[in-house]
Formats: sequence, C-alpha cells, structure tokens
Amino acid sequence: MTVPLDIEQTHDLIDYLRGRGLFAKDDVCAAVILRGGVSNKTVLVQGPSRSIVVKQALEKLRVAADWHADPARIEREALGLRLLEHLAPPGSLTPFVFEDAPLFLLGMEAVPDPHENWKTVLLRGEIAEDATIQFGALLGRIHFQGTKLDEAAIRPIQDRHFFQELRVDPYYHFTARKNPAAADFYAQLIRDMEAAPRTVVHGDFSPKNILIHQGRLILLDHEVIHYGDPTFDLGFALTHLLSKANHLRLTRQLFLQASEKFWQSYLTEAGPLTGERDFESRACRHTLACLLARIDGRSPLEYLNPDEQVVQKLAALELLRNPPAHIPDLIREFGSCLP
Ligand SMILES: Nc1ncnc2c1ncn2[C@@H]1O[C@H](COP(=O)(O)OP(=O)(O)O)[C@@H](O)[C@H]1O
Ligand SMILES: [Mg+2]
Repeated sequence: MTVPLDIEQTHDLIDYLRGRGLFAKDDVCAAVILRGGVSNKTVLVQGPSRSIVVKQALEKLRVAADWHADPARIEREALGLRLLEHLAPPGSLTPFVFEDAPLFLLGMEAVPDPHENWKTVLLRGEIAEDATIQFGALLGRIHFQGTKLDEAAIRPIQDRHFFQELRVDPYYHFTARKNPAAADFYAQLIRDMEAAPRTVVHGDFSPKNILIHQGRLILLDHEVIHYGDPTFDLGFALTHLLSKANHLRLTRQLFLQASEKFWQSYLTEAGPLTGERDFESRACRHTLACLLARIDGRSPLEYLNPDEQVVQKLAALELLRNPPAHIPDLIREFGSCLP
C-alpha cells in the first residue's frame, strides 16, 4: 500500500503539521525519530510553544519474523487514547491532538523532558515500590472504570480483530503450535477468554509502554485496546515483572515482591470484577501463557539469554500442567523454578 506521507521524512511531516495549523508557518521546528516501538513509526516534533509526537502505523512490523498487521489499527489507538482519557487518572496519558485515518496517523502531546522509559529503568535492576503500585493501580482503575461504560462507548471497541492479529495469533496460537504439550491449555484459555466477563482491556500493558515523568507513570500505545477479558492484561503485565526476576539475579527477590505488590495494588482499584468466578485463576493461566509465549511466540523477549529462556520455558510448561489458582502462589512457584 502506498502512503503519500512518510513521517520519517521529517521535513514533509513538519510541513504537514504546519498545514494542519498545529505549528505556525514561521515556527522553527525540530524533529527526532523515536526508536523503541516495532509496530509504528514514531516522531517527536518540537516547536517554540508545543511538542507533538506523531505515530504512523506500519503494515509490516519491524521484527525478525515476517509479520504483517492492518495499519487501520491507528484508528483504534486514537479511539483508545480518547477513551482512556475518561477512565484513567489525570496525567497518566498523553493528551490526544489529531488523527488522520487515511494516512494512518495519530498525534498526541509529547511527554515533557526529562522522562525515562520504565523498561529501561527496570532492566537496570531499579524497581521502585511506588512505580509498581502505580502500575497496578492504573490497570485496576482502567478495568473498573471500563465496567461502567454504556453501550455506545463499548460498541467501537467491541471488535477484537486487532487483538486477535497482534496477540492471540502471534502469542497464543503460534506458541501452542510449537508446544503440542501445551496446545490444550492454550485452546481452553482462548475459549475461556471468549466467555469471560468483559471490560476495557489495554492489551499492551507493559513497562515498555510506560514513561516515567516526575515520578508519575504515563501509559502509551493503545492499538490493541478492546472490550474483553481483563485478566489478559494481568498476565501480560506480570510476565514482564517475572521475566525480569528470571533475568536479573541480583534483584530477583525484589522483582518477585514487586509482582505481588502489583497484584495487591491492582486489587485495591479493580472493584467487584475481581470477585467473578475464575478471575484470579484465569489471570494465573494468562501469566503462564504469556511467560511461555515470550519465549516461543512471535515476539520473544530480547533480553533473556539462552539459559534464561530454557529456565522460563521449563517453568511455564511445568506450571501450566496444573496451574495455581492464586497469583501469590504462582509468583512463589515460578520463583522456586529459578536457579
Ligand atoms: N507522547 C510521547 N511522548 C514522548 N515519547 C513518546 C510518546 N509516544 C511515544 N513515545 C516514545 O516512542 C516509543 C514508541 O512509542 P509506542 O507508542 O510504544 O509505539 P509502538 O506502537 O511502535 O510500540 C515509546 O517507547 C516512547 O519512547
Ligand atoms: Mg510500544
């Protein structure tokens, strides 16, 4: 598909933004291509009075595998950003600026400097209790507020084909095909996810999509947001904390404790949802499913060395034979599988 504007041609982008009236004709603007994401081009444009980040969805993802996805998902991300502005605490999102669906563009306010990506901080072994608590509370708040949406707000996020294309297929189906012993486990989890009680699910709730500015967490990257099973987000997020417990031996205990703290702070915000039958046990199963998928799925965690990959794979395969029903048990059992 030909796209008439490539935002990484930054002069063209600046002209485009001027044309939209977002910068004045004589504003001096500087553009920086931001790295880190794989499914979008992302460019920061700084003018004299404002800074905007523009994302452009890619049809072919920047990963080793030949992985394609519908770039119209940028519309879902724009919708998600505007929806989350009503659900999440003030200051935890980047305010929406504009959308251009035919060009697959989304513009939002830039997070001011100084800020840091939380994944980078975590990989240095720095796991602040306050950040972990915010991470859990933010997810709990989104899930709880999401249960209060009316029909009209839910309808636009009901379709799950972006989630299917970017999560269920590449993580769950792909991993199941590589691990016949886990195929039934994944098949059952996918069925249960379909039948689960629903709310707003972010779908990419990862430290990589969190920036920290002045001690506050800011959530990015909402392209797979949908109305579905909230325990997916829990499993996806816990996998990031537990994988770092695997990777970072010196701070392993801190990451295991942080995993539990994340869950406890989630519970303080998530409301009655968590009392639903099978909620916590499904969260455990999603965690195991993601722990294995981040080894054998289409998007493996790049920081795990081959030994750590083996440890994580064996731990997940062992635990999914008889999954714990409670998150603290899961964390303890996963911890006891680490060398
Ligand atoms: N509003 C923003 N302000 C500052 N930096 C941002 C903003 N949005 C994205 N970024 C930077 O760009 C990177 C990629 O953005 P992200 O939305 O995660 O894209 P992708 O969907 O490709 O993963 C982020 O990790 C972050 O470093
Ligand atoms: Mg991202």
